[in-house]
Amino acid sequence: MEARKTQDMDAAMKAILTKLRDRSAASSTGQAASEEKAEYECSDCKDKGIIVYRIHQDTERQLRKDHKTMESLAPDQMVREEDYLAGKVCLPDKAREWKTTFSKQCECVKRKKIARLMKASGITEEFEKLLFGNFIKDGKPDMIKDAYECAVEYYKDFQSIRGNRSNSIALLGQPGSGKTHLLTAIMNNLIKKKSIYCMYFPYVEGMGDLRNDFDQLETKLDAMRKAEVLFIDDLFKPVFATTMEGRIKKPRATEWQIEQIQSVVNYRYLNHKPLLISSELDTGELLDIDEALGSRIHQMCRDYTVIIKGDRMQLNHRLGDWE
Ligand SMILES: Nc1ncnc2c1ncn2[C@@H]1O[C@H](COP(=O)(O)OP(=O)(O)OP(=O)(O)O)[C@@H](O)[C@H]1O
Ligand SMILES: [Mg+2]
Ligand SMILES: [Zn+2]
Repeated sequence: MEARKTQDMDAAMKAILTKLRDRSAASSTGQAASEEKAEYECSDCKDKGIIVYRIHQDTERQLRKDHKTMESLAPDQMVREEDYLAGKVCLPDKAREWKTTFSKQCECVKRKKIARLMKASGITEEFEKLLFGNFIKDGKPDMIKDAYECAVEYYKDFQSIRGNRSNSIALLGQPGSGKTHLLTAIMNNLIKKKSIYCMYFPYVEGMGDLRNDFDQLETKLDAMRKAEVLFIDDLFKPVFATTMEGRIKKPRATEWQIEQIQSVVNYRYLNHKPLLISSELDTGELLDIDEALGSRIHQMCRDYTVIIKGDRMQLNHRLGDWE
């Protein structure tokens, strides 16, 4: 048994040494150099997604002694497989000392996944800049600070509450108070730090888009139902009409619009999928539009709801002097 193992190892080493010789022959004909020049999206792993390393037998022995895994190795404790095979690491007679290989996922895999998620989310470059870090709290009314705290808390709790009944957040009320800013900050963080598939749905434009592309309606609604996190921004955003009684606020909520939102929210409610909601309407006004829908949203957002109401001169960031 032991002899067999040794034989196998010898065969493996022979194969490596042959490869080494082939490689150095190839590099002398310039083949390797042209390979080097090929354009890769990731020059580090040459788009393979993994990087193979070799470690020295002494390093391996030390790791075992310390009960550590190869993941804990520092960059200078390992060499790249291609350098080893190209004979850059040691002379052929020392090759045996580097027989242990170790594969690691390249950083680009995560980077690409995040880029894909950002693209799929519908977040624009402008929105990518909306973060917790650039949200001003100093000099703001308590209500704004509450909204900030609520959003940060929600993000921190997310992994532990995402499957619960109350797993969503609603920031309601005053225009220009930072609702979109804070919910976008949550989304940016969920995508970039936790690789979560989020979808941004700006209510007014999104609804128009659904109406104009009827063939795709079910496909689009389905994407909204299934996204891990759905951000509905400015739900039922009201239009203002001047009537005999003065200026009145009229939510954009036709039967058709309510029905579409209903079918998305219902699915998400039943399947415990989180929602991020911003709206100028408060809980009561949402209930007035449709009680079944409003009460579901209320239940889903129960632990994380802030209603921002009061003096618009203080609450609307656009009306202040913050530069
Ligand atoms: N506390 C803040 N610190 C820094 N920027 C802020 C703050 N509050 C709001 N802003 C900025 O002000 C603008 C308006 O904020 P935002 O769009 O988030 O408000 P909103 O509550 O969603 O308003 P609306 O109802 O009009 O959609 C954005 O550019 C946002 O980045
Ligand atoms: Mg907004
Ligand atoms: Zn890579």
